[in-house]
Amino acid sequence: MPKQEIKLHYKNVMADVNGVKILGTENGITDAQLKELAEKTSPLILQLNKEREGGKTPYRDLPYNSRIAKEVKELVQELRGRCENLVVFGIGGSALGNIALQTALNPYMYNLDENQRAGPRLFVFDNIDPPQLVSFLDWLGDKLDKTIFNAISKSGWTAETAAQFMIVRQLLLDKLGPDDCKKQIITTTDANQGILRRIANNAGIKSLIIPEGIGGRFSVLSAVGLFSAAMCGIDIDSLLEGARDMDARVKCEDFYKNPAAINAAINYHFYNRGKRISVMMPYSYHLKDLSDWYRQLWAESLGKKEDLTGNDVHIGPTPVKALGTTDQHSQVQLYREGPNDKLFTFLQVRNFEKDIKIGPAPDYAQELGFLAGKDLSELLNNEKKATEYALLESERPCLTVLFDRVNAYTVGQFIYLFEVTTSFAGALFNINPYDQPAVELGKEAAFALMGRQGYEELAQKIKPLNDFDEGYIV
Ligand code: PA5
Repeated sequence: MPKQEIKLHYKNVMADVNGVKILGTENGITDAQLKELAEKTSPLILQLNKEREGGKTPYRDLPYNSRIAKEVKELVQELRGRCENLVVFGIGGSALGNIALQTALNPYMYNLDENQRAGPRLFVFDNIDPPQLVSFLDWLGDKLDKTIFNAISKSGWTAETAAQFMIVRQLLLDKLGPDDCKKQIITTTDANQGILRRIANNAGIKSLIIPEGIGGRFSVLSAVGLFSAAMCGIDIDSLLEGARDMDARVKCEDFYKNPAAINAAINYHFYNRGKRISVMMPYSYHLKDLSDWYRQLWAESLGKKEDLTGNDVHIGPTPVKALGTTDQHSQVQLYREGPNDKLFTFLQVRNFEKDIKIGPAPDYAQELGFLAGKDLSELLNNEKKATEYALLESERPCLTVLFDRVNAYTVGQFIYLFEVTTSFAGALFNINPYDQPAVELGKEAAFALMGRQGYEELAQKIKPLNDFDEGYIV
C-alpha cells in the first residue's frame, strides 16, 4: 500500500491562478510575491539544515531516537498489566501533546467503553482546578493501586505540576504506605536538573528522561508524549515513522517542494500584510486537539519582544483554534464580515476510519431528501468546502492540510510539519522560537505569591497591583 502523505494545499491563498481570480491582488499572493518568498526562504532551508546538523535543534532528531522508544516500551510492558487508569500531571508542552495524540488516535468513547480501548483510561490534568481534581479523586476512590500517575515537567519546577504531585503522593502514602506509593508514580523530566529529578532519584521513583535542549512544546515525540500514547495502545513506531518521512520533505532544498518552508513563508507574508491572526480549523473531531497543541507551539515560539539582534519588535501571529462545523455556527460571521486580518488553515480528512449513512427523510419532510442515504463524511467535507468558498468570496486566504486518513503515521507527519514550520517562521521573523522568557516571569510571580524563599522582593513588587482596591469595585 502506498504511504499516505499529508499534503498542504495553498492555491486558495493566491491572488489568481491561470487567470482565474482566487483572492485578487489586494488580499492574495501574486506569482511575483511567491517568487520573492521563495528567494527569501530558500537560504533559510540551508540554514535550518545546517543548524540541525550542528545539534542546535535537538527536537529534529527525536523521531530517530530509538533509545527513547525502547525505554518507553519497556516501561509500558512493566506497568500495563496493573494499570487501569493513567493520570498525567503536566501543563503546556508537558500535557498538550498527550491530549492531542489521545484525541487523534483513540476512539471518542475510549475512557468509557472498555471494548473500545486497548490500554488504561487516560486522564490528563493540565490545570489545577480544585473541584475538578477532587471530583476525579472521589471517583478514583479505592482504585489507587490500579492507577499510575505520571508527573511530567521539563524544568521540574512548575508549581502546578509540583502541587498535583504532592497531593497525590500524600494520598498514596496514606492509603498504600511508602513502599507501594512509589510503585504508582513515575516522573518524566530532565536527566539532571530540577526538583522533580531530585525527588525521583531520592524516592526511587521510576523516571523517563526528556533530552536536553528540547522545550515542552517541541517534546511530544519524546517520552513526554510517547509514554501515554504507547500505554493507550497507540502505534508509536508509526508515529515516529511519519515524523521521519516528513523530515525528508521539510529538509528539501527546493522551496516549492518543502511544505514547512512554504507554510511558514505564506504565514509570514500575510502577517506582514496585516493578517496577524492565524486560525486553525480542523473538520474532524480526531484532529481537534492538534489545533490546541499548535496554538501553544505557534504562540510561545513566535510571540517575542526582541529579534535576534536585540531590537524591540513585539512580533507574533495570534493563533486561534476553531472546529468545523461547530464554529461555522459561532465564528464564521466574524471571519467573513469582520476585519480581514486572518489566515485560515483547514485540516481536512479524505477517508474517515468510520462512517455512517444518513437515514431516509420522513414522508412529511421530503425537503430533507437531499441528505438521505449520503455518508455523514460527505456532509462534513462539503461543509468545509462551503465554508472555504464563503471565506474566499470575502477574500480571506485559506490553506488546507489534507489527510488521506487520520492514523499514527499521518499524525506523526503533521506534528513534525508544524514543528519545523515554526522553526522556519522563527527564522523568517528573525526571532528565537525556542525560548519563552515571558512565561518565566509569571512562573516566578506565582512562586513569590506562594511564599517561596528567595522571591520576597518580587512579592513586594506584586502586592500593590494585586490587592483589590475598594475605590475601583462596582
Ligand atoms: O513549551 C514550554 O516550554 C512550556 O509550555 C512548558 O511546557 C510549560 O510551561 C511547562 O513547563 P515544565 O515542563 O517545565 O513543567
